[in-house]
Amino acid sequence: MGGVLYQMRMLCTGRSSMRKVSWAGGTSRPAVPRRSSRNATMWLRLWRRRFALRGVSEPKNSAQLLLAHCLGADTIYGVPEKTLNRSLSGDQQRLFDEMCRKRLQGLPVQYILGEWTFRDIKLRMKPPVLIPRPETEELVGLVLDSLKHVEVGSYQPDPQGVPASGPSLLDAGCGSGAICLSLLHSLPTARAVAVDKSEDAVSLTRLNATSLNLLGRCNVLHMDLTAGLAQRELAALGPFDIVVSNPPYVLSSHLPLLQPEVRWFEDRGALDGGKDGMDVLRVVLTLASEVLKDHGWLFVEVEPRHPELIAQELAEHVWPCLRLVHIYQDLSGKLRFCILRKISQDEEPHGK
Ligand SMILES: C[S@@+](CC[C@H](N)C(=O)[O-])C[C@H]1O[C@@H](n2cnc3c(N)ncnc32)[C@H](O)[C@@H]1O
Repeated sequence: MGGVLYQMRMLCTGRSSMRKVSWAGGTSRPAVPRRSSRNATMWLRLWRRRFALRGVSEPKNSAQLLLAHCLGADTIYGVPEKTLNRSLSGDQQRLFDEMCRKRLQGLPVQYILGEWTFRDIKLRMKPPVLIPRPETEELVGLVLDSLKHVEVGSYQPDPQGVPASGPSLLDAGCGSGAICLSLLHSLPTARAVAVDKSEDAVSLTRLNATSLNLLGRCNVLHMDLTAGLAQRELAALGPFDIVVSNPPYVLSSHLPLLQPEVRWFEDRGALDGGKDGMDVLRVVLTLASEVLKDHGWLFVEVEPRHPELIAQELAEHVWPCLRLVHIYQDLSGKLRFCILRKISQDEEPHGK
């Protein structure tokens, strides 16, 4: 699920009273600049202040991203200084106003913009499909780095370094398609199967795959991984070189602690990992045991207490053909990524 906490820091650090607060004491309503003096920067300051007063998270970042969008840029740094010093056109002003009012209601910036950049691809965003988090960009980076260093199944470069056939990938719980589509974008000969139990997620992944011209290499399936037939159906589409997953991993008891805008607007089914946060993760580990090629790789994004639990359950031979080979921290220093490998049947299981 990734980085809910980090995401909260980035965009959702708002106070929980976002919906309740009205103009503080009636005296602190921000001054509206006089028409003659209103340039883009002034509108930016005005909305930033309104956001701050109303407890909207990341008020500065939010106002900057929305204004940049209205001015045709991805970030405020992409807007020329002279444009910031000029007045907004009527249309720009109306659009900025409309978007800022949505932000005032707590709607995440990504849903307001309707798009978000993930690594080097732009993805459409639609509530309630989970907004991809920065940690998940790191997860994709780990997959790509590993592919540089190891032979993965059929992914064997010819003497000129051109792979004869790319790796086959399974993205378990694809959401917006962030993981599988950015991998396919970076690996021109790879093919992927992407599955999600949410119809909204499946439609959004298909939409994103189509706009990125990747649908031809991405088979998007509406499937609940916990359903009896799912593993058999996926096994028939495999075996895969790589399974990658960012499953829901927030402990159910921690859900109320999530920032309000995460709880209000993002799909609970994308966040809730059950009592210990491992309900879907365990299903993914079992699935990987079934559908990976021998020596295939599983990359998972997890909650910081999960690597130890995974190691414990591996030691108890819950997944005898999987071996935990690496645990990585995310950029904030939290244990966040596990890399496992499937061993062949004639190899010694881990821990024996
Ligand atoms: C944390 S989100 C990750 C989405 C996307 N991969 C990303 O990283 O942005 C987890 C996704 O898993 C899906 N999911 C949860 N339980 C599932 C299940 N039993 N079977 C299939 N998909 C599931 C959710 O619908 C959600 O889209």
